[in-house]
Amino acid sequence: MNRALKYGVALAVVLIGCGGAYRSGYQMTEGERLFRANCRSCHVLPRPAKYTDEEWPRLVKRYGEKIRLADSSQAAIIEFLTANN
Ligand code: HEC
Repeated sequence: MNRALKYGVALAVVLIGCGGAYRSGYQMTEGERLFRANCRSCHVLPRPAKYTDEEWPRLVKRYGEKIRLADSSQAAIIEFLTANN
């Protein structure tokens, strides 16, 4: 087996191994996925616990509007944040 092939096989084993562990463990909700995808382009991802159920809708709307995030996406993000704060 040449070096490149050995390296490729080793990498594949690592990737498959991690992927399996990830799938069998934690399932990300749509709201969390959207939060992670949209809320860290300008600053670090805020911690859900940092704000209350009353504060999050206002904050998500304020910053969601800046990037023209759809209302349904904002709602999903708010749902995720208020379920995890
Ligand atoms: C277009 C850039 C941008 C995006 C995208 C963005 N933010 Fe921000 N956010 C800012 C700026 C600017 C501040 C002001 C704080 C600072 O000066 O660092 C901020 C601050 C915050 C704060 C701290 C409280 C406050 O108002 O100062 C929270 C919480 C926050 N953002 C949440 C979010 C969430 C949730 C999302 C995703 C929906 C998001 N941000 C996406 C620009 C952005």
